[in-house]
Amino acid sequence: MAEKKGIILSGMRPTGKLHLGHLVGALENWIGLQDSYTCYFLVADLHVLTTGFEKSAEIPGNIHEMVCDWLAAGLDPGRSTFLIQSKVPEHSELNLILSMITPMPWIERNPTLKEMIRDMNLTGKIHFGLMGYPVLQAADILLYRADLVPVGEDQVAHVEMTREIARRFNHLYKPVFPESRAKLTSTPRLPGTDGKKMSKSLGNCIYISDNDEAVKAKVRQMITDTQKIHLGDSGRPEICSVYSYHAIFNKSESEEIAAGCRSGKLGCVECKDKLAGAIGHTLDPLRQRRKAYEDDPLKVKKILLEGSKAGSKRAAETMALVREAMGMDY
Ligand code: TRP
Repeated sequence: MAEKKGIILSGMRPTGKLHLGHLVGALENWIGLQDSYTCYFLVADLHVLTTGFEKSAEIPGNIHEMVCDWLAAGLDPGRSTFLIQSKVPEHSELNLILSMITPMPWIERNPTLKEMIRDMNLTGKIHFGLMGYPVLQAADILLYRADLVPVGEDQVAHVEMTREIARRFNHLYKPVFPESRAKLTSTPRLPGTDGKKMSKSLGNCIYISDNDEAVKAKVRQMITDTQKIHLGDSGRPEICSVYSYHAIFNKSESEEIAAGCRSGKLGCVECKDKLAGAIGHTLDPLRQRRKAYEDDPLKVKKILLEGSKAGSKRAAETMALVREAMGMDY
């Protein structure tokens, strides 16, 4: 096997099935890194509790759905390590230690946390654990001494804070941690079927596990250029969500589609059906792979438990280094 270039860690909160935004924004990025890096992929179940503590009983089902989508997309437990955060107790331990050296103003000015509080309408309902969200994420990353963290734009502030915490630890005690960096995807963010940010709570998602009929029905509802009403009207692909999908899922036809839209020859219904076909074509191999896991929760669980066990080795090594650096290895 070729020499690995470094260590990667990334993760997601298990909130259920994943959508196309996750596929093109995160998963495809992760998949391409598996051969060249030692990869850890984290099911951040403790992070779910920062806002979803009342719905903890939904977590196991959501883990299953999410990890089926990981496997469907092509994350490979033979090449990468899948972890469950709560199954590696060192996440909680390192979180506690790092929380001691993280100044409160760093937390208070974290833009990703602020955005989350605003988007989820949490103002006035904030718990202590939620404020610790970025520190727990720093612990996730630093526990494996990860060099790179492939994430979307919205997570960059957390990775920056991870680096600041690492620097502070290294300076206060001994150099244990690398200065982890975010690795962004080049794919622009995919809008939801209503043109807003694709998000489960907005009900505007196309899921990786949707079948052809569901995809077609959702694509049919998408808003196009509102000035293009009749067949023959000229459209503006550059402002059309449907076109932005074609550019990703139907690259080979996208120029022809843009030209047809501009000239008015291609109507929106036909254009949408072409898109639904292209998405279906993209998803077909994923659906095939998903089948092998979706009705077999034990098979998925085994992957997660074995991965967590393997990951625990590195986590334990890091904690030994942490204790030694702090002079607390008694
Ligand atoms: N906060 C990330 C998200 O909402 C999930 C996450 C938890 C994560 N721990 C992580 C991402 C560590 C990267 C690295 O998507």
